[in-house]
Amino acid sequence: MPQTVKTRPDRYRARAHALAYHASTHASGRPSLSQRLELATVRRALAGTVGDSVLDVPCGTGRIDALLRERFDEVVGADSSVPMLTVYGAQADTRSGCCADIFNLPFDDASFDWVVCHRYLHHLRRHDERVAALASLRRVCRRGVVFYAWINTLLARRRGSMRASMPRARLDAAVAGAGLRVRDVHSCAGPFSVKTVVVCEPA
Ligand SMILES: C[S@@+](CC[C@H](N)C(=O)[O-])C[C@H]1O[C@@H](n2cnc3c(N)ncnc32)[C@H](O)[C@@H]1O
Repeated sequence: MPQTVKTRPDRYRARAHALAYHASTHASGRPSLSQRLELATVRRALAGTVGDSVLDVPCGTGRIDALLRERFDEVVGADSSVPMLTVYGAQADTRSGCCADIFNLPFDDASFDWVVCHRYLHHLRRHDERVAALASLRRVCRRGVVFYAWINTLLARRRGSMRASMPRARLDAAVAGAGLRVRDVHSCAGPFSVKTVVVCEPA
């Protein structure tokens, strides 16, 4: 059984939570300003990618699925939560979702051009967990990994019970430890925001 992030193990395992989570995303049709900025940042980060296939892990209920389909011919979603995958798959026949643990992905090496990991890494509090997650993503990609992360700025840092920002040097160390190197860091909202989308290539 895949392990969910340790901070709230049961959080994503209930169908009611999956439905509530989905309703809280831009799927409601009225994205907040922060959601629009975030999606625009993912789109900007993906503009520089070349390739046909992408793995979206964890895909959740499909927050960035439409955006990935604008850019890639083949989109595969993976998540450890069956309820999240059920909501993900219910929205379109074309969506193929797979129940999988991000630390132990059931795909061959270099199966996808790109791997996108949205809204996950900032839940991992330990450096070794971040390295292990990124190394797992690195293994299944050919061209690179795009991931959402919270990075401290001079004007902002955040530390909650479930999510935390980290110094840029710590992020670079995790990326290097996973056999990747940072190509670009796209800020979602400037120096007052810790939210970023990071584009990495194999080192
Ligand atoms: C904050 S949500 C992000 C989902 C989606 N990327 C989005 O932006 O809406 C975190 C997701 O990570 C999934 N998850 C937690 N631990 C996981 C693991 N070890 N392997 C795969 N997915 C995991 C949860 O089920 C949940 O769908």
